Amino acid sequence: MKLLVKNGWLVDPGSNRCGRFDLVIEDGQVKQVIPVHADGIPEEAEGAAAGDVEIVDAAGKYILPGLIDLHVHFRDPGLTYKETIATGSRAAAHGGYTTVCTMPNTKPVMDSKETIEQQLAIIEKDAVIHVLPIGAVTKGQMGEELADIRGMKEAGACALSEDGKSVMNAALLAAALPIAKEVGLPFFDHCEDMNLVRGGVLHAGKKAEELGMKGITNSVEDVIATRDIILAKEAGAKLHLCHCSTADSVTYVRLAKEAGLQVSAEVCPHHFALCDEDIPGDDANYKMNPPLRSREDMMALREGIRDGIMEVISTDHAPHSAEEKAKSIKDAPFGIVGSETAFAIAYTTLVEGGYLDLPGLVKCMSLNPAKVLGIPKGTLQEGYAADFTIVDTNESYRIDPDTFFSKGKNTPFAGKEVRGKICSTYVDGNCAYREDM
Ligand code: DOR
Ligand code: ZN
Ligand code: ZN
Repeated sequence: MKLLVKNGWLVDPGSNRCGRFDLVIEDGQVKQVIPVHADGIPEEAEGAAAGDVEIVDAAGKYILPGLIDLHVHFRDPGLTYKETIATGSRAAAHGGYTTVCTMPNTKPVMDSKETIEQQLAIIEKDAVIHVLPIGAVTKGQMGEELADIRGMKEAGACALSEDGKSVMNAALLAAALPIAKEVGLPFFDHCEDMNLVRGGVLHAGKKAEELGMKGITNSVEDVIATRDIILAKEAGAKLHLCHCSTADSVTYVRLAKEAGLQVSAEVCPHHFALCDEDIPGDDANYKMNPPLRSREDMMALREGIRDGIMEVISTDHAPHSAEEKAKSIKDAPFGIVGSETAFAIAYTTLVEGGYLDLPGLVKCMSLNPAKVLGIPKGTLQEGYAADFTIVDTNESYRIDPDTFFSKGKNTPFAGKEVRGKICSTYVDGNCAYREDM
């Protein structure tokens, strides 16, 4: 099956191509990238017109390498009333994603060769995009005994993470990191010092005080982020800091990079688009971990992204049921959905806000995540998988959770006017989402 993606504007920072190009897709791969001149006639349509070709018309739209999300929670197996691999992967395709990494805090926890194999069997059966499992650092995420890191790597895990928690025992993490390095898995770090949380539910600031809620200080994150930079340095392991929310995390990541350490960092759209001042009241759609921080933190994150210090934008897509999120902020679980809003929120906040150009955003949402994983994706060069996304930035629209494919509707962005609509998503040359589907 051949595909000809015509009339679009390619944005592919991985090949330094940005402009009018047609793509010829064959056997799931990019076969040809054909420059189109101002008169609209491709340089060499040779081969592209021959045979049985399906045309994808991208006129007036951008063609991007498929987005890659290093951080989602699909709750499958075990918590499938919140999300499944089937619904989560469809939601991700709807959001322009062609590859996502699933966090291991499922039931059971992904902590062994067998559990990863079981999850991969569900993925094989149900996923409409590439879904790569992440394995836990400790058995059952209990923080007591190391999980079978080698076995999980063998089964196909793409990274290690204790997400949802930190590995509070530094000695245990110090034992895990050399194994991670040996087998070539990066460590995705949820930074939260449990002993400093002290029952906090919102950022420790005026808003939490106003609402009479306990605060989560920046030190809750910063203490573990710095600790783990030190431990990763000692082990020579690859460290990726998840959902950075504080201004100081940007400083520490910059220093670590200047010191030549293998450290990367992600920021989630909610942390750079919102701050605690935006919390309208006791609404658990504004509750996530780490929390929405101060305006100064939010601005420092934007600047960190602008400067290339924070090189990945991921979602921390964390679906919960309507009943769970209808509770007070005090009692509801932490987490919001993100797969279906991330591109538009990032485009509207960062590109329209003047922090990044579109190629810069594509780096953060596709090319750089691929680099963190060390996989040959995130670019549409000849020979690469035909994972791509077509987006329309011309018209603005309002975010409507009723249109989500995710089971989770828990978003603080409902009703927000944005630009950056996903028109279609292709995985290995096959359509995983199309507007008129
Ligand atoms: O907000 C969050 N939700 N943060 C986490 O670390 C875990 C996640 C979840 O699993 O719901
Ligand atoms: Zn986390
Ligand atoms: Zn998470």
